[in-house]
Amino acid sequence: MKYFIDTANLDQIKEAHDLGILDGVTTNPSLMAKEGIKGNEAVYKHYKTICEIVDGGDVSAEVVYTDFKSIVEQGKQLAAIHKNIVVKVPMIPDGVKAIKWFTDNGIRTNCTLIFSAGQAMLAAKAGAAYVSPFIGRIDDSGWDGIELIQQIANIFAIQGIESQILAASIRSSLHIIKCAEAGANVCTCPLDSIMGLTKHPLTDIGLAKFMEDAKKFA
Ligand code: G3P
Repeated sequence: MKYFIDTANLDQIKEAHDLGILDGVTTNPSLMAKEGIKGNEAVYKHYKTICEIVDGGDVSAEVVYTDFKSIVEQGKQLAAIHKNIVVKVPMIPDGVKAIKWFTDNGIRTNCTLIFSAGQAMLAAKAGAAYVSPFIGRIDDSGWDGIELIQQIANIFAIQGIESQILAASIRSSLHIIKCAEAGANVCTCPLDSIMGLTKHPLTDIGLAKFMEDAKKFA
């Protein structure tokens, strides 16, 4: 499974990259707004900086339009920023139509806001490189996000579908482990959830003892 970070914060992207495990980045308009970036020019410049930090990993950049013509127009601009940009398109009829257009024109896409297997199947049929089920938001509404990952993984395996399942809206380190178990190809996570994977109280206790004992032969 690949590890993406789900943020537009440059410090957090650098920290995950420095850890040596980062495969890519996903952003969305809410994450961009959180960083206080305003205007298309500033947003596009920010995407370029992210691409340069990640150096080789895919960076999802989301369109902010809902009609076919505008999605295609902005998607072309986003794709022109850097070769690693993947155009993030919402799961709506015009989005599916745009994904097909991007596929036919050699532009890779990530279909976002997926909450059902049917949506994932349609996005994949249109040629999306990634389909993004929102695990945490499904859990928040009383359903099981991990079950959806399992279902999509099962369908994609049976049908030989090549789109990557990108588990998004991750809330915890446990979510990351469960997504790997359920068959996600990629997990896009907040930095805290990634760092949480390094932690265990017995590691801390064991290390304290080793460091203490090391003083005996220093
Ligand atoms: O990038 C899309 C997704 O990861 C959003 O997560 O936490 O806003 O549900 P969240």
